[in-house]
Amino acid sequence: MTSSTTTRPRIILDCDPGHDDAVAIVVAAHRCDIVGITTVAGNAPLERTAYNARVMRHILDLDVPVVSGAAGPLVVPPAFAGYVHGESGLDGADLPEPTRPLDGTDAVGFIIDTVRADPGCHLVVTGPMTNIALALRMAPDLGDHIAGISFMGGGTFGNRTAMAEFNLWADPHAAAIVVGSGLPLIMAGLDVTHRFQATPERIERVRAIDGRLAAVLSGLFDFFSANYRSRHDDMAGAAVHDPLAVLAITDPALFTMRDRFVDVMTEGHHTRGMTIVDQRTLVDRPAPNCTVLDDVDAEAAWSITIDAIRAGSRPE
Ligand code: RIB
Ligand code: CA
Repeated sequence: MTSSTTTRPRIILDCDPGHDDAVAIVVAAHRCDIVGITTVAGNAPLERTAYNARVMRHILDLDVPVVSGAAGPLVVPPAFAGYVHGESGLDGADLPEPTRPLDGTDAVGFIIDTVRADPGCHLVVTGPMTNIALALRMAPDLGDHIAGISFMGGGTFGNRTAMAEFNLWADPHAAAIVVGSGLPLIMAGLDVTHRFQATPERIERVRAIDGRLAAVLSGLFDFFSANYRSRHDDMAGAAVHDPLAVLAITDPALFTMRDRFVDVMTEGHHTRGMTIVDQRTLVDRPAPNCTVLDDVDAEAAWSITIDAIRAGSRPE
């Protein structure tokens, strides 16, 4: 599932800001028509992820609804990622107080009503998939009205556990519903997102841009990358995961990708949230259900990110 890069794809961005979700909002504002931003608990509790989405909307001066959704997963207990993003979910920068309130608290109803009224949106999912799974359950016709689902999550290795990536670990039952939906899927897993790092050189290119957005993002990147460097022995900066789920739609030529069968484990101390990505060359392997991103032209993707930050940075 890809779209022409000559038209701005319409998207609903379901996210849990989160440093890299914030970058996804910036890139989406630059390369897409954002029909709505919905939020879910994940990197931080729902109140914080909804607030942080409003902060990014405020800084970008976007006239886009922000609607909050699920405060917790379908089955497993809620769990957050303050150990990566800080208790606020966006530690590391002096954030302005958003002036526009939330536009609603029913993200699932917003998603269903919006795609039924205006078919053709992509759902871009950069947090736990709870809202999307609930929307699929409540509206079995959802797939008739969307272009597809591009999600950040999964991979052939994990980060929350050895085998499970955080978004899918946080709500494995929701992930299993979405990945098993039969809808057009693009997966930006850790195999590709770890190749897109906020290195010191790249952060300096952000810091050199005038305006409030660049000042906020350089602080966020400093915090995020310091956290990643302290917690990994082989990373030069934070993996900026979430914007790749946006760029997979707007700029597919940045990536190498393969159609593969993917499934999600819902049980097991080490395997809960694990994605099974079938890479076998057996001719009788299961039919693919997902386009899996394997590699990215990181420099080109970072250049687009810089352009997006420049476009969103009005001089103080
Ligand atoms: O595992 C990385 C993912 O979990 C990213 O989307 C990050 O923002 C967190 O949600
Ligand atoms: Ca996220």
